[in-house]
Amino acid sequence: MQIKKAVIPVAGLGTRFLPASKAIPKEMLTIVDRPTIQYIVEEVVASGIEEIILVTSAGKSAIENHFDYDFELDTILKNKNKHDLCEELCHISSLIDIVSVRQKKPLGLGHAILTTRSVVGDNPFVVLLGDDLVLSDTPCCQQMLELFNEVQNPVVAIQQVPMDQTFQYGIIEGEPVRERVYEVRRMVEKPAPGTVDSNLAIIGRYILTPEIFDLLANTTPGHGGEIQLTDALAALSRKRPMYAYEFEGTRFDAGDKLGYLKAIIAFALRHPVLADEFRKHIKEVAAGL
Ligand code: G1P
Repeated sequence: MQIKKAVIPVAGLGTRFLPASKAIPKEMLTIVDRPTIQYIVEEVVASGIEEIILVTSAGKSAIENHFDYDFELDTILKNKNKHDLCEELCHISSLIDIVSVRQKKPLGLGHAILTTRSVVGDNPFVVLLGDDLVLSDTPCCQQMLELFNEVQNPVVAIQQVPMDQTFQYGIIEGEPVRERVYEVRRMVEKPAPGTVDSNLAIIGRYILTPEIFDLLANTTPGHGGEIQLTDALAALSRKRPMYAYEFEGTRFDAGDKLGYLKAIIAFALRHPVLADEFRKHIKEVAAGL
């Protein structure tokens, strides 16, 4: 069955990025020439998904506006003969159908996903976290969909992280099935240092099946007092096979100040117009260090 819907939770407060994220959603901060969220939406579109469900909260309307068609701006730009800009803006607003639902209380990622239940319906769907950018030749979401089409069971994206950083992630323990693929045996959200042997960290890409909603509805607050998606996933993995997939590409935590800077450099070095000049500049900077 072809997966048609993607959920992108963007309701988080962005406390790691204050003060920049005080009046602007962190998902709207710019990486080179477009907001972080646009890269995620472009990944979804490139992977063949047809509809996006944003989970928003108060103060996040800039995200919806970014993907909307702005008639006034379009008319002004046309009158000024700025047709290239008009085309680019029209392209953004026609990328994909986007609907949004509100997460009314900040009760955690699991709760954010639960709010999409009636819009997602009874089919498998993708979840992409707005902070996690992946630079790759094949979109990360598409890589995961290819595995899902084969296994017809939930898939979570993972990467290996240094053991002293495991406490920052959901960690999985699993049996290797083949290169890059593990069958999940155990998952734990942000384990205390020294309490897990695995360094396989969940990053913000998931393919879920609709049973997750009942499990989320019955999940009690976990790490940080929040309803954790990882806890519901652990319950799901006890009911049916679940796979962890070590994606091909580089992931950036764009919700973190250093991760954001690294993302800007990596995406600028791939930019069709700016890359050459920027590479020259970086070499000059490096030579002066
Ligand atoms: C969330 C998930 C965590 C995952 C991480 C990846 O945590 O709960 O399991 O490893 O995203 O970015 P957050 O970073 O939102 O605290």
